[in-house]
Amino acid sequence: MKINTTQWVLLGVAAMLAAGCATSMHPDEARTKAAAMMKASFKDRGQAKVTRIDQDDMQKNCSIYSGGNVMPKDLAARLEKAQQALIKYPADGKLLGDWKAGERVAQAGVGMQFSDNPKNPAGGNCYACHQMTKAELSYGTIGPSLYNFAKLRGYGPDIQRYAYGKVYNSQAFSACSSMPRFGHAGILTEQQMKDVVALLMSPDSPVNK
Ligand code: HEC
Repeated sequence: MKINTTQWVLLGVAAMLAAGCATSMHPDEARTKAAAMMKASFKDRGQAKVTRIDQDDMQKNCSIYSGGNVMPKDLAARLEKAQQALIKYPADGKLLGDWKAGERVAQAGVGMQFSDNPKNPAGGNCYACHQMTKAELSYGTIGPSLYNFAKLRGYGPDIQRYAYGKVYNSQAFSACSSMPRFGHAGILTEQQMKDVVALLMSPDSPVNK
């Protein structure tokens, strides 16, 4: 899956606009109009702000290159590089927290909705898309299985750094990834990301058992 819900809605609105007009509209114009319609029809509710539908460069391009319209490789590489530059690695240089706390982050699916208390920590909901441990019976398959992640990929500093960067900003390594940009979007705190990376990387974690 490459397109998120907002992008689908935008595409749908753009298609309706295009179909409803006597004269054909330039795609850029249709997109601008669709965005304005979306903004006009939603309002802020608690922590769920309408500004969430503002698209950055990556998201704009992912909307343009969707469906059968494949993003050119050089553009994907340029966008990924720009996202990589936005990753903030922990100032103390430590990428691994407590895997037990990471397990709770991986299992928690709350946060970011208008009905959630913004003072409570959000979850990562990793199991919605990934298998991570053998014990978990219920998991999604939108993303690849992460079971035995470090056992298969190695426990070294390069993989640790990749895992942290991937959790921080998934699109830095895969343009238009449907995985949330947990650090970039302010969903998880630095400590929560360290904990989740420990879950992926620790030899004692059930991920690597
Ligand atoms: C909405 C679905 C979704 C959620 C939620 C999600 N991911 Fe992902 N993840 C994906 C997809 C799809 C991929 C594969 C495509 C890509 O590389 O982005 C992926 C890839 C990854 C990879 C790279 C795997 C590899 O072999 O290189 C890691 C690591 C990862 N996810 C960790 C996590 C963690 C940890 C969480 C929770 C904090 C999480 N993901 C939550 C969808 C998701």
